[in-house]
Amino acid sequence: MPRTLDDLTWPRRTERLTVARLSPEDADVVWELKSDPALNRWTTRVYATREEFRADWDALVTTHLMARWDGRLAGYLMVKQQDAWSQADVAERARGQQVELGWVVAPWAQGQGIATELVREGLSIAFDMGVHRVEASCFAENTGSWKVMEKVGMRREIHTVKESLHRDGQWHDGLGYAMLAEEHRER
Ligand SMILES: CC(C)(COP(=O)(O)OP(=O)(O)OC[C@H]1O[C@@H](n2cnc3c(N)ncnc32)[C@H](O)[C@@H]1OP(=O)(O)O)[C@@H](O)C(=O)NCCC(=O)NCCS
Repeated sequence: MPRTLDDLTWPRRTERLTVARLSPEDADVVWELKSDPALNRWTTRVYATREEFRADWDALVTTHLMARWDGRLAGYLMVKQQDAWSQADVAERARGQQVELGWVVAPWAQGQGIATELVREGLSIAFDMGVHRVEASCFAENTGSWKVMEKVGMRREIHTVKESLHRDGQWHDGLGYAMLAEEHRER
């Protein structure tokens, strides 16, 4: 069984970023990122009220990491550990073997390679946990997001056609990327 985020040592450092678990002092700035409709145009969820956000806080703490650049919150990374798909009789061995990554970079920090640096660290975190595979997905129109996945060396595996319903009321194409532990080791 792979390790979890709780088993790793925090914070972690990249060239410019300090990556740490979410703490109560982060609430205001995370709320700003998660309630901004423009920033969340392509993300799964935008929080409309502080109450909704508060109700989700405990779940966010288990999956979200904060990235600081010179002490300022530059973005967050979601590291969601999941069971990999398996046949029922080997389900125990697939438990916790996959991580889904997600990320948002604060507007002031965009355009400077921060997402690339953060997602690269997300891959290191997931594979340090010992998982078999890391996945991430986005709307096909979210060019910035899939470019980041390509820059960190993830493989485009899926292009779905009008499978994702957007809050704009339209069905959009989706892209799925992945990297395996052995591919990460080779890099
Ligand atoms: C998408 C996002 C994460 C990019 O963050 P960033 O720190 O600006 O990205 P980087 O600087 O690491 O850029 C990586 C590559 O993507 C490109 N890129 C970034 N944003 C882009 C955009 N909006 N359109 C086209 N290309 C873009 C960069 O030019 C760079 O490619 P290059 O090196 O070939 O020039 C950021 O704009 C963001 O948080 N957006 C809102 C939230 C979101 O959509 N998250 C992803 C949900 S799946």
